[in-house]
Amino acid sequence: MKKYNVVIMGATGAVGLEFRKLLIERKFPINKIKFLGKSTVGQQIEFGDQMITVEAVEDGCFDGFDIALFSAGATISKEVSQKAIDAGCIVVDNSSAWRMDPEVPLVVPEVNPDDVLKHKGIIANPNCTTIQMVVALKPIENLSHIKKVHVATYQAASGAGATGMAELETQIKQVANGEDVTINKFPYQLAMNIIPQVDVFTENGYTKEEMKMFHETKKIMNSDIDVSATCVRIPVMRNHSEAVWVETEKELDLKDVIKAFENAKGLTLIDNPAEKKYPMPLFSAGEDNIFVGRLRKDITNPKGITFWCVGDQIKKGAALNAVQIAELLIEKGLI
Ligand SMILES: NC(=O)c1ccc[n+]([C@@H]2O[C@H](COP(=O)([O-])OP(=O)(O)OC[C@H]3O[C@@H](n4cnc5c(N)ncnc54)[C@H](OP(=O)(O)O)[C@@H]3O)[C@@H](O)[C@H]2O)c1
Repeated sequence: MKKYNVVIMGATGAVGLEFRKLLIERKFPINKIKFLGKSTVGQQIEFGDQMITVEAVEDGCFDGFDIALFSAGATISKEVSQKAIDAGCIVVDNSSAWRMDPEVPLVVPEVNPDDVLKHKGIIANPNCTTIQMVVALKPIENLSHIKKVHVATYQAASGAGATGMAELETQIKQVANGEDVTINKFPYQLAMNIIPQVDVFTENGYTKEEMKMFHETKKIMNSDIDVSATCVRIPVMRNHSEAVWVETEKELDLKDVIKAFENAKGLTLIDNPAEKKYPMPLFSAGEDNIFVGRLRKDITNPKGITFWCVGDQIKKGAALNAVQIAELLIEKGLI
């Protein structure tokens, strides 16, 4: 079996840590691994039972590598992606840098695996809130075209990276000790609060995060689907949750939707109201699958279906989806 030279840019971050775990767990065929970073250059970090020194992003740093997994933000991704391609790498990028570029496929393997075939060196990993929603939308779309989605998200602190997690942890301790709360990463205190803002506001009153869900869902599903989102940050450490209302072209039988969810790839249905069984972020952190529950017909619309959906946004929402894209490239003989 062929083995690949893999470089991770952003290996020390929240997503990078997951990359390191997943490549080992999934026995990704690695010949050589390199970690690139910024403030941690020179530090040794774990990769399985090895310690690898973080190196700087500099000329020649991608030479001899086949796959570049990027999770270091949009600015550096824009700066160095072409250099990585010129050096012979295929880039799988977690940032927002390339997602809406018409030349760059935006891929969720359960939804649009064949879009990888169109790649010209970069494949973009969608926004985490969008990934978990489209994994759940795809089985419904297979039954009847989805015209419209309304969604309210409940997003974990870790969506804002390692510093987001650290800020929530510090704030929880400060609140418990009756101390003043430190606020840096989030616009307000997050502990004991919820913040109806993720990312900055755009001119139409939606935030950038909400507009990502609008645009990215259309691109991934290759569809005219419309998405109206309200994205909210909640004081949960890990796993995003979403309340989703779907409007389909045809009226659907709930039994068919249940069957479609049960058979869908990457999805687990937990739905037993009588026994208080439904997905929750606390109990699904670290899992690969997206969990759905609270499935019911929308009381306001015969063509409406509504459900609750929870996913580990650092795993399926970021690192796992990117590693699955790399696996897809191997499977399709593209590297
Ligand atoms: N957290 C999530 O749930 C999530 C989900 C989906 C997508 N993403 C995306 O994934 C990316 C990383 O997010 P994260 O949450 O892992 O952030 P993070 O915890 O803040 O980590 C950022 C990483 O990027 C590296 N980095 C930053 N600037 C760099 C530069 N100029 N050159 C090289 N490395 C640089 C850092 O390296 P040093 O430590 O060495 O400075 C660190 O490893 C972002 O684009 C984010 O939007 C995150």
